[in-house]
Amino acid sequence: MDFTAAAIQFAPVLGDVKSNLEYVEAALARLGHTDLVVLPELASTGYNFPDAEAANSFAEFPAKSAYVEMLSAMARKNNQYIVSGFNEKAGDGIYNSSLLVGPGGLAGVYRKLHLFMREKLYFKPGNNGLKVYDTGFCRLGMQICFDYLFPEPWRILAQQGAELIVHPSNLLTQNAIKVLPGIALMNRVFILTANRIGTEGDLTFNGNSGMLGPGGDTVVKLAGDEPGVLHVRVDPTLARDKMITEMNHVFDDRRPEQYH
Ligand code: ACM
Repeated sequence: MDFTAAAIQFAPVLGDVKSNLEYVEAALARLGHTDLVVLPELASTGYNFPDAEAANSFAEFPAKSAYVEMLSAMARKNNQYIVSGFNEKAGDGIYNSSLLVGPGGLAGVYRKLHLFMREKLYFKPGNNGLKVYDTGFCRLGMQICFDYLFPEPWRILAQQGAELIVHPSNLLTQNAIKVLPGIALMNRVFILTANRIGTEGDLTFNGNSGMLGPGGDTVVKLAGDEPGVLHVRVDPTLARDKMITEMNHVFDDRRPEQYH
């Protein structure tokens, strides 16, 4: 059955968790019931921390975060799932994470595996692997921003049954736009990128949040430099069909025994 999804494209304010929380809460309230809403990478804190101390000072334990509490309350009220980038504090350091929050509260955490540039100075690389979550309306995997450059996790999530891979982002280059259509096509999955806009210091983020279909085509896309909400209706059964021609299956036709 079809479900509805949205991506919220905006410019989080660096270090102002309160105003980011208020922005996201108002945007979710305006949206009302949408089965799935995706927010950008590090949506509650901003991205371009001046140093490790600042990155650490804005990190939160999900269980003690007013931002996560707000997402849980909205997900319960609107009977929906919300995915958001999150500066996650853990016992052993901080992670650039993506949280899946549903009507029952926190339902999943993905920690970014491939850290980009100065993120390596602040965050620990992800350590909790890859997981596919069943929301009832679709099977969902998570990747974050620069993860786009590494094809293996997308393939593994698709092989684990993900129909849609959500992709909270703070993209700075055009590289994701070049590679993600191929990744969607090779795995025959939907990919929903929620990218931010705005400038923080020396970094300018480029919007263009968009949904790719299992044929690698753009289903819908936002502008590069304006806040906005992307709305899309998704038929997840299209991603269950792994035939690329009537005689070719994207997984069964692989020849791993010859890949040496
Ligand atoms: C990125 O991974 N935020 C470029």
